[in-house]
Amino acid sequence: MTESVLLSRVELEDSHTLTVYEKNGGYEALKKVLGKVDPEELVEEVKSSRLRGRGGAGFPAGVKWGFVDKNSPKPKYLACNADEGEPGTFKDRLLIIKDPHQLIEGIIISSYAIGVATAFIYIRGEYHNEADILEGAIDEAYKAGYLGKNILGRGFSLELILHRGAGSYVCGDETALMESIEGHRGNPRLKPPFPAAVGLYEGPTVINNVETLSAVPYIVNKGADAYTAVGTKESAGTKLFCVSGNVNKPGVYELPLGFPMKKLIYEVCGGISGGRKLKGVIPGGSSTPILLPEEIEDLELAYESSKPGGFMLGSGAVIVIDERWCMVKIAARLAKFYAHESCGQCTPCREGTTWTYKILKRIEEGNGRKGDPELLLDIQDNILGKTLCPLGDAAAMPIIAIVEKFREEFDRHIEEARCPF
Ligand SMILES: Cc1cc2nc3c(=O)[nH]c(=O)nc-3n(C[C@H](O)[C@H](O)[C@H](O)COP(=O)(O)O)c2cc1C
Ligand code: SF4
Repeated sequence: MTESVLLSRVELEDSHTLTVYEKNGGYEALKKVLGKVDPEELVEEVKSSRLRGRGGAGFPAGVKWGFVDKNSPKPKYLACNADEGEPGTFKDRLLIIKDPHQLIEGIIISSYAIGVATAFIYIRGEYHNEADILEGAIDEAYKAGYLGKNILGRGFSLELILHRGAGSYVCGDETALMESIEGHRGNPRLKPPFPAAVGLYEGPTVINNVETLSAVPYIVNKGADAYTAVGTKESAGTKLFCVSGNVNKPGVYELPLGFPMKKLIYEVCGGISGGRKLKGVIPGGSSTPILLPEEIEDLELAYESSKPGGFMLGSGAVIVIDERWCMVKIAARLAKFYAHESCGQCTPCREGTTWTYKILKRIEEGNGRKGDPELLLDIQDNILGKTLCPLGDAAAMPIIAIVEKFREEFDRHIEEARCPF
């Protein structure tokens, strides 16, 4: 059994309170390093831990921190990304509800390492309960002297601001998130410059996911070696996997990276509900290409894993689909989401996602035309790699995979002028 890095306290009663957190090792990592360990040494320790960002792209956290100019004349910022808008993803909310102080401690240590005096938590607009819990925890941390001026009397000060979003998926993109915090419409910014160079209020800014920052206290407490003892060569540590769809035991599971996908579905999650056959698995949130049953056969859940059919670990949101589902309907549902969430700044994404949804809807309703599958692929080709932010790719990739891997379902819809399911 692997030691839990992230969920060690979630089963405890009142795990969200400061009292329970402190009784169970909470804020020990902060006490160990604040004013005692050189911030640069901390950055090196996180680099050695090979902790990779858990928001989707898997960028090494310590390397990102190292990009920040220590001598910047402008203030530096840290923003914790708690937008969690990717369909199928519900891991960060568990960390927030059950162990908010672990996240806050991770934010304070990270801010100290980077030289930040003001940090933000940007939380998804729909997460009302989660935001209330965080607000309560931040309040407790201020009162106990873990936040605010001269923390623990060690000469470091940090203000932590909770910023509520207004229900927009694209605001999870780090550049749109910064626009939103600054009070503007949440439209993504062109990169470069990257946030670590020019971010919030034009200052260097580090943006990290809730799960990434929540792992920091463990790494500081136990050391980088303990963290890298678990996982694979390129994917160290544990990861939260949120499994939804047609499994007997959906939920959030903390597992070592490199864990076999089949074992996750058939052992950890108790197999496909009703003993039905597996039709496909969306492996890492709605924007990752679907995998066929044969493609998960020997698949390890790690950043470096690859498959001819395309595998992305993404946010760790595994959506399991059984034999009853119509794949055209699933593609249409996904397309509707992306068309709704496109901010409209660039033509390929704004027009492409809208047309994709319209065409999929007409196929699903029995009004599909010969050539529609090719038209769908052509539209996706005109979105992919041609947009300002990665939402365009996120919208196109799953549609390409579904059309290519389930082509006969599209043809049957068009030939029979109805949904055959
Ligand atoms: C459309 C879109 C939505 C995103 N949503 C989230 C999100 O909800 N949470 C998150 O952590 N990252 C999200 N990201 C990724 C962020 O831009 C960023 O890479 C991440 O917060 C960095 O944190 P990490 O390095 O700790 O993973 C999104 C990206 C895009 C393009
Ligand atoms: S890709 Fe889509 S969401 Fe991103 S900036 Fe362009 S229109 Fe907006």
